[in-house]
Amino acid sequence: MPLPIFPNDQIVAQPPLAGIKTILAIAAGKGGVGKSSVTVNLALALKALGYHVGIMDTDIYGPSIRQMLPEDRLPTQKDNLIEPALCFGIKMISMAYFRKENEAVAVRAPIANSLISHFIKNVNWGALDILLIDFPPGTGDIQLTLSQQANLTGAIMVTTPQEVAMLDVRKAMSLFEQVKIPILGIVENMSFYRPSDESEPLYPFGKGGGKRLASETGTSFLGEIPLDPLICTCGDLGKSLFSADPEAIKPSTQAFMSLAKSVINQTHTLKEKGLAGIGPFELNWKEM
Ligand SMILES: Nc1ncnc2c1ncn2[C@@H]1O[C@H](COP(=O)(O)OP(=O)(O)OP(=O)(O)O)[C@@H](O)[C@H]1O
Ligand SMILES: [Mg+2]
Repeated sequence: MPLPIFPNDQIVAQPPLAGIKTILAIAAGKGGVGKSSVTVNLALALKALGYHVGIMDTDIYGPSIRQMLPEDRLPTQKDNLIEPALCFGIKMISMAYFRKENEAVAVRAPIANSLISHFIKNVNWGALDILLIDFPPGTGDIQLTLSQQANLTGAIMVTTPQEVAMLDVRKAMSLFEQVKIPILGIVENMSFYRPSDESEPLYPFGKGGGKRLASETGTSFLGEIPLDPLICTCGDLGKSLFSADPEAIKPSTQAFMSLAKSVINQTHTLKEKGLAGIGPFELNWKEM
């Protein structure tokens, strides 16, 4: 049974996302480049490193994380607060819990925005080291609401190596620049493919695009994730890449562990330099 959504007057005022040390957006601009897959596997890798992790799936119209990360415990409602679901030890909230399976979410932008505000203000995350916010594709209203209200520490940009993907990532990066959210770095997904452990890597989508984009924009390159059918299968079946056959999954698991370490290091660097996100802000009208 899907959870009810509180009417607006029941939205409780508590400090948004209090108790969370680091809040990171996982964004791309372009659809289908692997934001949700990176979010899930990065969360699992961070968990494996001993961090307390949460995921907020903010794709109101096409939430996919619940499929990739099925819950061991459903979310519950307590005193006007939502207790998030628990999936492989990761706290999670998603629109998928508020509608029937296979039912389209037919709401216009203002309602979608208030649902996002609801996720920001009414979920009892408790103490977390890191909350990953899986952004929907594009640079629209919801992305702006999240940037304004979610106290982001920084944003991780996901791209695939093709120029068309990077065009959209550049746009998304410019949105974050305008709203003064620092970019933590770039992850290149589907970087290369190895038909077998012994074979040389193949580059079906081109080589080195993510690194080039990082150096052109003065951003850190956080890592590359191989194109691996296991990433797709685990996502489709709702299995953890980290608990499947360790031999078979080694390269992808290692890639996500190494990404998780880069994310932690880069977050420390941002915080040390005093560059981490500065909290809620107002967008000012610019005279053209
Ligand atoms: N590295 C990878 N290797 C193999 N398959 C992958 C990889 N990354 C993602 N996929 C697959 O590609 C598809 C799209 O990935 P995903 O849903 O994570 O993208 P997305 O950017 O979140 O999409 P959307 O914009 O629709 O939210 C999924 O079927 C996923 O399993
Ligand atoms: Mg997605």
